[in-house]
Amino acid sequence: MGKDVIVACDFAGRDAAERFLDQFTGEKPYVKIGMELFYAAGPDIVRSLKDRGHKVFLDLKLCDIPNTVKKSMAVLRDLGADMVNLHASGTIEMMEAALEGLTRPDGTRPLLIAVTQLTSTSEERMRRDLLIERPLPEVVLHYAQNAKTAGLDGVVCSPLEAGGVHERCGADFLTVTPGVRFAGGDVGDQVRVTTPAKAREIGSDYIVVGRPITAAADPVAAYRQCVKDFVG
Ligand code: C5P
Repeated sequence: MGKDVIVACDFAGRDAAERFLDQFTGEKPYVKIGMELFYAAGPDIVRSLKDRGHKVFLDLKLCDIPNTVKKSMAVLRDLGADMVNLHASGTIEMMEAALEGLTRPDGTRPLLIAVTQLTSTSEERMRRDLLIERPLPEVVLHYAQNAKTAGLDGVVCSPLEAGGVHERCGADFLTVTPGVRFAGGDVGDQVRVTTPAKAREIGSDYIVVGRPITAAADPVAAYRQCVKDFVG
């Protein structure tokens, strides 16, 4: 599986997303459609970005009872996304149901990955707000193991955790890692962050980069810098 940079298209609507992507004339970045854009633009945004030639990671982070997640995944599978996700906290049973819903009659399906702990979560917040007492790296590895047991393709985690996840779950188990910043860049609400070069060193398969590219004075140059530092 080749390494790639996924650009988080966190925009308030289709026009803003398309204006942003219009700047990329030389390349077709792998894009992430999150809740903001999906809720604003509707499911057609997935088909339309696919039609423009982009690979699409649909980041809707499903978490509900297994039956609801299974049926919702069956709807998402027909939108044409290359990768979709859910919260590992929904349990192994929910993840297995999701996989069932996502699989087409011919056996093909988009990649399915699980969010372990959000990269905006610190160990202190996890303990205080969620009453999870175990160390954060242990929780991430346990959730990753659950995702693997359920048959998923990988996890969303911090780049700092990618090496440990590969050790526990195997080199082929994907690590998709947001929480990426250029050295000295604004961290914003993220907590567990590192640079594209360091993410490459630790072993992330995909980095997900939003504001360091979308809010850059020259987004195309920022994207190219990420690709250079991460993919080489
Ligand atoms: O702007 P920034 O680079 O922080 O964007 C990161 C993107 O990755 C956001 O769209 C956010 O929703 C998403 N994400 C995350 N942490 C996760 C899962 C997804 O930051 N665990």
